[in-house]
Amino acid sequence: MGEKFRISGGQALKGRVEISGAKNSALPCMAAALLTPETITLHNLPYVRDIITQRRLLEDLGATVLTPELRTHKINASNVELFEAPYELVKTMRASVLALGPLLARFGKAKVSLPGGCAIGTRPIDLHLAGFERLGAEVRLEAGNVVARAPRDGRLRGSEVHFSKVTVTGTENLMLAATLAKGRTTLYNAAWEPEVVDLADLLNKMGARVIGAGTSTIEIQGDEELGGAQHTIIPDRVETSTFIAAAALTRGELEIKDCMPGHVAAVIKKLREIGVEINELNPTSLQVSCPDGLKASDMITEPYPGFPTDMQAQYMVLMTQAKGHSVINETIFENRFMHASELQRMGARIQIDGRTARVNGPTSLTGAPVLASDLRASASLVLAGLVAQGQTLIDRVYHIDRGYERIEAKLQELGADIERIRESVTGPLPQSFPDIVTA
Ligand code: EPU
Repeated sequence: MGEKFRISGGQALKGRVEISGAKNSALPCMAAALLTPETITLHNLPYVRDIITQRRLLEDLGATVLTPELRTHKINASNVELFEAPYELVKTMRASVLALGPLLARFGKAKVSLPGGCAIGTRPIDLHLAGFERLGAEVRLEAGNVVARAPRDGRLRGSEVHFSKVTVTGTENLMLAATLAKGRTTLYNAAWEPEVVDLADLLNKMGARVIGAGTSTIEIQGDEELGGAQHTIIPDRVETSTFIAAAALTRGELEIKDCMPGHVAAVIKKLREIGVEINELNPTSLQVSCPDGLKASDMITEPYPGFPTDMQAQYMVLMTQAKGHSVINETIFENRFMHASELQRMGARIQIDGRTARVNGPTSLTGAPVLASDLRASASLVLAGLVAQGQTLIDRVYHIDRGYERIEAKLQELGADIERIRESVTGPLPQSFPDIVTA
């Protein structure tokens, strides 16, 4: 039986919220543990469904994962016996393709099911595969699986890889693979995201030699082996930004703790432009309020350091409450406006034309039953529910559980009227996440 959120809107959020570790940094860092027989200890992992899925993948491959504390994993991949990520896992979480680079580099072979399309677009991995070929791998497609093999001596060769498009997990996959290749690899037009830098930091602690992460050119000097390391995952910049939006929308006042303001600079800049007051209290805390209401402004999503696509849906909700007309351009994914039709059902005035959304605000939203289609779309529906009059029922909240840690509990602590409900007459509320994820 699926779970839903029931939200009664209208409460101004007040208080302090702590930001969890970044899911999109934790996932590649967990994959990095496959590069070494020694133990990798990761701290500050967010307690979200995708991390549980990635853990399951590592364990299926033969790694052992100990959890001395809820947010710490000790991963040891000295006994990897399987070199494949099955369709069952890849279809639930595309980031499982991050196993490809490490398996190929350390064991000389890997088989990963090819992810199909998903709710936000076709999302191919052709750039990952072309990159592996540049490192000397032979890549074939067999019955829906990518089968990759290193050259005969089992080791990839350092090379130059030019990405025709900026790809975050593509950059990470190649970086992971190149650490164990023979010689030097240079990645051109690499992604600059903080998650790429976090992965490079971990790899360097493992003994790798990665320089330039955080710029468009990354150089990796390959090594024969890598060792164990301890690493603390960076704070989640999308969760940080989502709470900034929640404070602004509800005209509340929030202190957002344990975040990295520098990683959300583009969001802070844009939100200040539309009327949100954001002060840096100290290097890891922000104070947010919105005393004078919101003004409309156009926005375009871009790779980092531009405005992130993972905040586009939440920005659209802000625009429904802002005075004036705004145009939102989604340049990263071709089909990432699924939330728009749900917001329209709540009374928002939005027109979609291809990758462009036009929003007319402000409109007073009214609560309605709505359907979550992907992770960030669901976050936008929660935000809309917080400002809508009456009751909003969000179905398929397993999407939000993939990437936001205890979002309803964090919001409740700030005064929101939100609860997780289970549509069953007999069963009690589950204590943990439901055992289904279908994205
Ligand atoms: N692309 C290709 N070929 C490839 C790879 C990407 O054409 O081989 C295209 C994609 O289809 C897309 C664009 O390049 O149009 C950028 O995709 P990218 O590869 O950067 O996305 P990703 O690595 O699959 C990560 C995040 C996403 C986030 C995007 C963009 C992880 C695990 N996922 O995805 O996060 O939206 O970067 O910033 O890091 C989320 O957390 O909700 C989420 C979807």
